[in-house]
Amino acid sequence: MRLLVAGGAGFIGSEFVRHTLSSHPDDSVVVLDKLTYAGNLRNLDPVAASSRFRFVHGDICDARTVETLAGEADAIVNFAAESHVDRSLEAPGQFIQTDVYGTFVLLDAARRIGHSRFLQVSTDEVYGDVTEGRSAEGDPLRPRSPYSASKAGGEMMAWAYRESYGVPVITTRGSNTYGPYQYPEKIIPLFITNALDDQPLPIYGDGNAVRDYLYVTDHARGIDTALRLGTPGEDYNIGYGGETNGHEVADLVLGALGKPDSLKQHVRDRLGHDRRYAVDTRKLEGLGWEPDVPLADGIKQTVEWYRQNQEWWRPLKSGEFWEFYSRNYKPLSPPP
Ligand code: NAD
Ligand code: TYD
Repeated sequence: MRLLVAGGAGFIGSEFVRHTLSSHPDDSVVVLDKLTYAGNLRNLDPVAASSRFRFVHGDICDARTVETLAGEADAIVNFAAESHVDRSLEAPGQFIQTDVYGTFVLLDAARRIGHSRFLQVSTDEVYGDVTEGRSAEGDPLRPRSPYSASKAGGEMMAWAYRESYGVPVITTRGSNTYGPYQYPEKIIPLFITNALDDQPLPIYGDGNAVRDYLYVTDHARGIDTALRLGTPGEDYNIGYGGETNGHEVADLVLGALGKPDSLKQHVRDRLGHDRRYAVDTRKLEGLGWEPDVPLADGIKQTVEWYRQNQEWWRPLKSGEFWEFYSRNYKPLSPPP
C-alpha cells in the first residue's frame, strides 16, 4: 500500500509511520505535515533514510498540495490536528480550521481520486464526559471542549463523505496516549520533564478527573489494525481500559524518578474539565488487536526515554512554551 499520512511528524503519527515501515515491508509512506509547534521532523529521524519514505512540508488545508499527494496514494490516514484542549480553550479558531476544514480538504481529494481506505484518527473525547459505563461506537457524540467539538466536526464531515459519496472512511477513537516523542504539554510528558528539573507538577482542580492512558505503540497498532482489517463505514474505539486520575499520574511519575511528593501542586481547574472518559474496545479486539503495555510499565519506559533524550525536549520548553504556560496555569485560589 502507498500511504499518505497527514500529521505524521507529530507524536502518534510518527509512531504510526515508524511502525508501518518496519511491519509492512511492501508499503511506502508520504508524510504531509505543517510542522506546527507540535510537529517535529526529528520524530521521523529513524525512518528518514528509508527509500520507502518521503516527507512533504505543507498544510492539509492547501487543496492543491493535498490533491497532488492524494493522487499518488492508495490510502489516506489523517493524524493532522491541533490537539491540546487547553490551547483550544484559549484560541479555538485554528482547531476548527485544521480539524474540520483540513479534514474536509483531505476528504474532498479522496472523493475525486478514489482510495481503498480513508482513516480518520479521532479521539474518545468526542463522546464527552462519561459519568458511568463505557462509550460504545454507536453512542451519541457530546463533545464539551472546542478541541473535542472540532474533532467531532471532522468525524461528521467524514461520515457525510462516506454516506454521500461512498468514500471508504474508517474512524478510530483513541484514548489519552503517552510515550516517547510527545510534545511536553500533555500531562505525562509535562510532569516527567518538570519533575526531571525539580519543577512543580500542576494538577488541575481536585485532581480526581480520570483518563484511560494508552501507550503510543498500542495506539499506533490499533490504527494499523483498523486500517487493514476494519470495515469501511465503521468506527473503532481504542483504549487500554484503565482509569487513572491526576494524583495517580503524578505519583507514578514521581515514583519512577525518585522525586518527592512535595512537587505536586494544585492549580486552578480547566474550564469545562471533562471528569471521565472510558471506552468499550471490544469491536477492535474482535479484529485481533489488544493493548500490550500496562500504565506502570509504560510510564517507566517513557520516563527513561525523556531522561535519555533531553536534547529532544529541552529546546521545546522555551519561549512560546513558557508564555502559554504562564497564561494557562493559575494558582488554585487567587489571592484576595
Ligand atoms: P500532535 O499535536 O503531536 O501532532 C499533530 C501533527 O499534526 C503535528 O505534526 C502537526 O505539525 C501536524 N499538523 C497540525 N496542523 C496541520 C495542518 N494544518 N496541516 C498538516 N499538518 C498539521 O498530536 P498527536 O498527539 O500525535 O495526535 C495525533 C492525532 O491523534 C490527532 O488527530 C489527535 O486528535 C488524535 N488523538 C490524540 C490523542 C492523544 O492523547 N495525544 C488521543 C486520541 C486521539
Ligand atoms: P491532557 O493530557 O491535557 O489530555 P486531555 O485533556 O486531552 O484528556 O490532560 C489529561 C488529564 O490531566 C486531564 O484530566 C487534565 C489533567 N491535567 C492536569 O491535571 N495538569 C496538567 O498540567 C495537564 C496538562 C492536564
